[in-house]
Amino acid sequence: MLAVLFILGTLCPLNNAALDISLLDPQLDDVLTAKFSDGFLLRFPNCTSYGGQDGQVLYQIIKTDEKLSENFTVPNCTSDKQAPRGLLLNKLQNGTLYSVWYKIGEEISLPLNSSTLPVTKFSEINDGLPARSGAMVVITVILALAMAVLLAGLISLIFISG
Ligand SMILES: *[C@@H]1O[C@H](CO)[C@@H](O)[C@H](O)[C@H]1NC(C)=O
Ligand SMILES: *[C@@H]1O[C@H](CO)[C@@H](O)[C@H](O)[C@H]1NC(C)=O
Ligand SMILES: *[C@@H]1O[C@H](CO)[C@@H](O)[C@H](O)[C@H]1NC(C)=O
Ligand SMILES: *[C@@H]1O[C@H](CO)[C@@H](O)[C@H](O)[C@H]1NC(C)=O
Ligand SMILES: *[C@@H]1O[C@H](CO)[C@@H](O)[C@H](O)[C@H]1NC(C)=O
Repeated sequence: MLAVLFILGTLCPLNNAALDISLLDPQLDDVLTAKFSDGFLLRFPNCTSYGGQDGQVLYQIIKTDEKLSENFTVPNCTSDKQAPRGLLLNKLQNGTLYSVWYKIGEEISLPLNSSTLPVTKFSEINDGLPARSGAMVVITVILALAMAVLLAGLISLIFISG
């Protein structure tokens, strides 16, 4: 019985490190951000379990059914602090909710659902300005007129009293 368990155990090694997907964390990973308007920085799968293996990142806009994918190779474990920790998935649409998975061999991760950042239109950023500068012109003209009237009053006062 024990022998059978032993053989089963060696045939089906416990897989502690399940295939996991997440964004890089700006606080832990030395990156400014893991989300862009056109992409995500995904943490590479655990190098201990998957280093050197070929994998795929599958992604789709949640509202649609079109699945896209990209191939990559999981980097080997390294002590090099400069080595990239994440995979840049780009050419995505801005402000859009995506579902992203890793697939390595037959293993598929849970989906990561995340939104790209929205791109604010240039015209929207500038919207407030023309109105405000119009008001500024009006105020400047009123102030200039008031100052002219005040000066004229002062000068005539000097002439009258003198
Ligand atoms: C990778 O998996 C191993 C176990 O297979 C675990 O000890 C290690 O902490 C994991 N590394 C990371 C970065 O999660
Ligand atoms: C990763 O390690 C494996 C063996 O451990 C080696 O065959 C492979 O060339 C390495 N890949 C890279 C990119 O260093
Ligand atoms: C991610 O979105 C999918 C739909 O594409 C949904 O089935 C799944 O439950 C969502 N997962 C999470 C963690 O929100
Ligand atoms: C990506 O990998 C899959 C299987 O791993 C392969 O069938 C496909 O041709 C690869 N695509 C590219 C563009 O290399
Ligand atoms: C951002 O997304 C909107 C809606 O999907 C699209 O109309 C717009 O062209 C995108 N802007 C850029 C810069 O990609």
